[in-house]
Amino acid sequence: MRLKGLRFKNRITMAPLYLGYAAAGGKVSPLLLHHYKEMARSGAAMIMVENASITPDGSGSPRTLRCDHNRYLKGLETLAGVIRNEKCLAGLQINHAGRFAHVPEAVAPSAVPAFGRTPRALTKREITAVQKQFANAALRVKKAGFDLVELHGGTGYLLSQFVSPRTNQRDDSYGGPIENRIKFPLEVLKRVKDSVGDFPVGYRFLADEWLPDGLRPEESVLLAKALEREGIGYISAMGGTYESFFLPPIVQKSKKPGYMVSLAASAKKNVGVPVIAAGRISTPAKAESILKEKKADLIGLARMLWVDPQWPKKARRGEDRKILKCSPKCDACFQLVMKGKPAYCPRWPRATRETYRSLFE
Ligand SMILES: Cc1cc2nc3c(=O)[nH]c(=O)nc-3n(C[C@H](O)[C@H](O)[C@H](O)COP(=O)(O)O)c2cc1C
Ligand code: SF4
Repeated sequence: MRLKGLRFKNRITMAPLYLGYAAAGGKVSPLLLHHYKEMARSGAAMIMVENASITPDGSGSPRTLRCDHNRYLKGLETLAGVIRNEKCLAGLQINHAGRFAHVPEAVAPSAVPAFGRTPRALTKREITAVQKQFANAALRVKKAGFDLVELHGGTGYLLSQFVSPRTNQRDDSYGGPIENRIKFPLEVLKRVKDSVGDFPVGYRFLADEWLPDGLRPEESVLLAKALEREGIGYISAMGGTYESFFLPPIVQKSKKPGYMVSLAASAKKNVGVPVIAAGRISTPAKAESILKEKKADLIGLARMLWVDPQWPKKARRGEDRKILKCSPKCDACFQLVMKGKPAYCPRWPRATRETYRSLFE
C-alpha cells in the first residue's frame, strides 16, 4: 500500500503507546530505544511513536517525550534511525495535552475543570502561538529523519478539547457550532503543512468521546471530511477520553475485541484517505476480516504488539494460536503509567521483564 509516497510493506502498524520509557525530562533513553527496536523488528510496516510534547506546558507527564526544542533533535534522530534500520516506516505523534497537562497552570479552550483542576482559557494570541509550536515540532520530526508525523487529536487532549462541545465553551470564532470548533485543528494542520511541505501528516481522530454531553460521530465526521480536504494523509480513529475511559460501561466495551473498529468503519464511509482501526485487534483473523470487510485500510496494534512483538511474524506463519494475548481482565500497563511508573506486562516471559527492568533508569 502507498500513502503520500510512502510504501507500506504490509497493513500492520503500531498505534501510539505511551509506556513511561523516556528519561525523566522527556529525552530519548536506552530503554525507549530498546523498546522501539523490538517493535520495529516485529515486521509491522509502520511504527507510530507515542505522543511527544510540542511545548513544556503541554506535556502529559515528566516522562512524556519532548519535541519542543532543538536540544531533543539528536535523541529523536537516533530513535528514527533505530526504527528505520529495521526496514520499518517511522512516525512520531506530536501533542499538546491542554487541560490534562502535568503542569501547575494548564491551558485549554475554556475553563472547564478536569479532575478537580480548572485550566485557564487560551487567549487568541496564545492560540496562534500554540499553532506555531505544532508547526515547529512537526518540522523537527521531519529533520530528525522520521517518515511521517501524526497530530494527536485523540484521548481528549488539546486538539480534541477544541472540537468537543463540553470542553469548548468559547464565544469567539473558535467556539459554538461544530464548524467553529473544528477551526483550531484545521488551522494547526495548515500551519504544519506550510512548515513541513511535502511530508506526510496523519491525524489521531477522536470520533466519539463516549460521554453523554460529549463529541459524537455525527459531529466529528465533519472534522474528518475537512481534514481530508486540507490534505491529511490518513485518519487513525479512536474513542474515549480520560473522562470516559474509567466509566463502567466503557470499561466493559473496551474489553471486547475490535472495540473501536466501528468508529474507523464509519469514518471510512465518509473519507477517501486511508483509515487506521485499533482496539484489541488481538488475532490476525480479526485483522483480516476488518480489511476484507473494508472497515479500515490499516490495522493499528498498540498493546497487542507490545505484549507479543512476534504478532506479525506469527500471523505470516499461520501460528495464530501461539500469539501471546493481552488479557481483557488486565489493566496493568495503563495503571502503571497513570501512576508515573514504567509499564511492563505480566504476560511477558521473565527474560523480557528482566531486560526492561535492567534498562530502566
Ligand atoms: C498505556 C497506554 C498508552 C497510550 N498512549 C497513547 C498515545 O501516546 N497516543 C495515542 O494516540 N494513543 C495512545 N493510546 C491508545 C492506543 O493507541 C490504542 O488506541 C488503544 O490502546 C487500543 O489499541 P490496543 O487494544 O491494541 O492497545 C494508549 C493506550 C494505552 C493503554
Ligand atoms: S495483559 Fe495487561 S499489561 Fe499486558 S498489554 Fe494487556 S492490559 Fe497491558
